[in-house]
Amino acid sequence: MCGIVGYTGFQDAYEIVINGLRRLEYRGYDSAGIVLENTEKKFSVEKTKGKVDDLVNISAELKGTAKIGMGHTRWATHGVPSDRNSHPHLSNNGKIAIVHNGIIENYDTIKKMLTEKGYTFQSETDTEVLVNLIQYFMELNPEIDFPTAVRYALNEVYGAYAITVLHEDYPGVLVVGRLGSPLAIGIGENEYFIASDASPFVEFTKEAIYLEEGHMAIISLEKGVDIRTINENSKIEPEIQKLKLSLEQIEKGGYEHFMLKEIFEQPKSIHDTMRGRLLVDEGVIKMAGIWDHVERFKNANRIIIIACGTSWHAGLIGEYLIEEYARIPVEVEYASEFRYRNPIITDKDVVIAISQSGETADTMAALKLAKEKGAFIYGICNVVDSSIARITDAGSYTHAGPEIGVASTKAFTAQLTILTLIAFKLGKHNGNLGNAEFMSLIAELDAIPKRIEEVLNATHEQVQEIAKDFVETTNFLYLGRGYNYPAALEGALKLKEISYIHAEGYPAAEMKHGPIALIDENMPIVIIAPKKGHYDKIVSNVQEIKARKGKIIAVVNKGDRQVSEMSDYVIEIPETSECFSPIVASVPLQLLAYYIAVYRGANVDQPRNLAKSVTVE
Ligand code: F6R
Repeated sequence: MCGIVGYTGFQDAYEIVINGLRRLEYRGYDSAGIVLENTEKKFSVEKTKGKVDDLVNISAELKGTAKIGMGHTRWATHGVPSDRNSHPHLSNNGKIAIVHNGIIENYDTIKKMLTEKGYTFQSETDTEVLVNLIQYFMELNPEIDFPTAVRYALNEVYGAYAITVLHEDYPGVLVVGRLGSPLAIGIGENEYFIASDASPFVEFTKEAIYLEEGHMAIISLEKGVDIRTINENSKIEPEIQKLKLSLEQIEKGGYEHFMLKEIFEQPKSIHDTMRGRLLVDEGVIKMAGIWDHVERFKNANRIIIIACGTSWHAGLIGEYLIEEYARIPVEVEYASEFRYRNPIITDKDVVIAISQSGETADTMAALKLAKEKGAFIYGICNVVDSSIARITDAGSYTHAGPEIGVASTKAFTAQLTILTLIAFKLGKHNGNLGNAEFMSLIAELDAIPKRIEEVLNATHEQVQEIAKDFVETTNFLYLGRGYNYPAALEGALKLKEISYIHAEGYPAAEMKHGPIALIDENMPIVIIAPKKGHYDKIVSNVQEIKARKGKIIAVVNKGDRQVSEMSDYVIEIPETSECFSPIVASVPLQLLAYYIAVYRGANVDQPRNLAKSVTVE
């Protein structure tokens, strides 16, 4: 949802900004731009529709011309992707430049006011309105300086923003501000970095300040980082954090795409998510976030899980897990619907938000609503210190590491791991899960990374071959029952978002209530049919598909006979207890989506129209 990068220091600003934009391209990639303040203290601007590579093609002459600058990679909200709508945007007098991630909701009113005062606009963006509002305040009151004008302007806007602003008459000064969109400031030796996350500067410094909501900072080599509140200009002492991120984590490591790397990282990411929490020898699950509030969970009227997309699918599996093992009623809601349907929430409710990025605007807004109504809110986030992680009362991080491929893979299985731990922990605590069953389940959970590794090894090449047969296909159905119904939804989502093939996930039994009408010899149906989990019923569903000549791709347990005999393609996964089967079954489905998309020539890491963190509602 747009990435911004800024730099001031002794290195070539062009190189730093361009490399930084490449790392942030997962946040949006329909246009890109850069502004540098050259040695004559003048701006050089280049921007274009397209990717960072397209920007490089038109801007190479800027290399080596400046030590301060900033750039932007865009996911369009206001105005189509075009050269004109690309950032940076300049004010009417050409002296102020801005890059912005977020949405200025009242831009229209401000635009009208500025237009009446004679301002003109080159683009359809809300951002250009903001940069002109800064100019307006400077002209209105020539006594105020540039940072103050930025502050005045920010106090006039509603919505979400992370901005970086430069002014030609204030050489060497970067002004940044944040509300609702993330912004990190990297602190180097005689250099400062600004970015939507720490990945653009991780090889230069391990020290960073994560700007808080409603704060701005004035950054210069001369005076360092001066943090202020936007509403009252109160000085804030910066809190410098040590970064744990490594360069290796954000590079492809020999894989062709981040998505494939992330699929293969799952044995490790699941293991890392359990590390220090699952102590099999001691027969204990340690989760401080749950334990410190265990009575709140135990006495909850119900747990409401809110999330979007893949995280919502994880939430559905969480419902099965928590209801089965902890016997606490669970509801799962799309965050966007929850927020706008006037839900009944009381202080006896526990709301769990699941979000890889921790920045999803719909989830954030739903959480704020739940908090206002007194619910206890718990976060399951992957990105440490993200906005959702900060506003929750307690939570558990998934330690999946940075997920850069836009299609979520390892974050999903890490979310399932956390939900499984929560369900078992609560179940054990409230007596619904007996000791013997608990011990056997946690031993099996501990071995899941090994099972995933087996699946990767056994199915990788086979799935590649299967994918070749479906390159021209236009529709897919994914079916599963019980725990594997949400796994079917997730399999379908993976396929549609990266290959642009229409795919639908359904509970297998629902097929006969409608989707069966779609089945003919051209319709491939992926069916998840592990031994444990309504196998006999699935066998009947497969027979129904067969009778209508559908093409069956079955995900079954090793040694399966009945479903395998009726299927056109058989992918074998190891047998597990039913509650673990979605984690294991998801892996070949991720690979299937990946290879179909690759063979169709799609950009799997940056699928069209999508962005990794969706910070608009
Ligand atoms: C799918 C995908 C999206 C996200 C959704 C929520 O692969 O990535 O559907 O799952 O936008 O994002 P988070 O989890 O960051 O809140």
